[in-house]
Amino acid sequence: MDLTSALLDWYDRHARVLPWRLPPGSPDRPDPYRVWLAEVMLQQTTVAAVRPRWERFVARWPDIGSLADAPDAAVMEEWAGLGYYARARNLLACARAVAAVGEFPRTEAELRRLPGLGAYTAASVAAIAFGEPAAVVDGNVERVIARLDDLDEPLPAARRTIRDRVAQLVPADRPGDFAQAMMDLGATICTPRRPACGLCPWRDACLSRRHGTELSRPVKPPRRTVPEREGVVYVGRRDDGGWLLETRPADRMLGGMPGFPGSAWDRGETEAPPPVPGPWEELPARARHGFTHFALVLRVRVARLSRDTVIPETLFVGELRPESLPTVMRRVWDVARTAPQLADPLSGAPAD
Ligand code: ADE
Repeated sequence: MDLTSALLDWYDRHARVLPWRLPPGSPDRPDPYRVWLAEVMLQQTTVAAVRPRWERFVARWPDIGSLADAPDAAVMEEWAGLGYYARARNLLACARAVAAVGEFPRTEAELRRLPGLGAYTAASVAAIAFGEPAAVVDGNVERVIARLDDLDEPLPAARRTIRDRVAQLVPADRPGDFAQAMMDLGATICTPRRPACGLCPWRDACLSRRHGTELSRPVKPPRRTVPEREGVVYVGRRDDGGWLLETRPADRMLGGMPGFPGSAWDRGETEAPPPVPGPWEELPARARHGFTHFALVLRVRVARLSRDTVIPETLFVGELRPESLPTVMRRVWDVARTAPQLADPLSGAPAD
């Protein structure tokens, strides 16, 4: 049996059941909106983390029109914790572009022109939602192919070879199932550290298996070390219970997300004066978060602010909902929450 048929046979028996999918071999096509949303969420985030968030998202905005009409802040809030917030801004821009013309374009090339749709997302939506024989290549697929052909060329240079190989394997009749079968194979059998080769539909053809090189494929480029950046952040609570917050500027990292004010650490600023006058005190613990290009270490200063504190225009005083904060700001919150300055002014209970 050829490789494509062996993989599809395996998928027919072992496809993961996921809410944005139809069962293997289904004569229907899944809703492009649901597929697109899943693919955007699944970039850089695991299926386990995405699944409940995807469910909530489609319950709140069941189609492209309702998402296009949603206020920016509501979408950013629903995205909180999924990371890479540019994806959420692009998601909305894309929803509005698609709603304006009435429906998703159906080809890979046209999809690619929508905001936020890179090569991967355009190919996966084209294949899964529209049955186009697009070559869908994500990290899982790279690993599967690099092992199948025992490629010793390192990533990212090997991507072209991998894409060409996938393009050869894609069947005209089931490109969506093929794409998802490759993802499932990579996620459940051909895993990075403990591949279950005995269960693999490609075990006899796999050159890495034959050569014993599974664990050194794909060949990775030399690991870059990410630089560390420092900054400062201010967590203030007014004596009427309100919190000193900002909506981060659109042109900055985490733009549109709520947060605590502080230095512009995304621009290398390590220090900043207090955003409002107050008895600011620095806590001994630091808040840490790893971004793609740098690790951030924030000094956290806290203060109880008087009710007549003048609030500058870029800030506001409001209720704090930690679950709506981006992860770095939640780390700040984790450090600050037990500080006595931030206790509930009425009950005296710690802020958490
Ligand atoms: N990872 C990215 N897209 C996926 C999909 N459609 N199904 C499962 N895992 C995925």
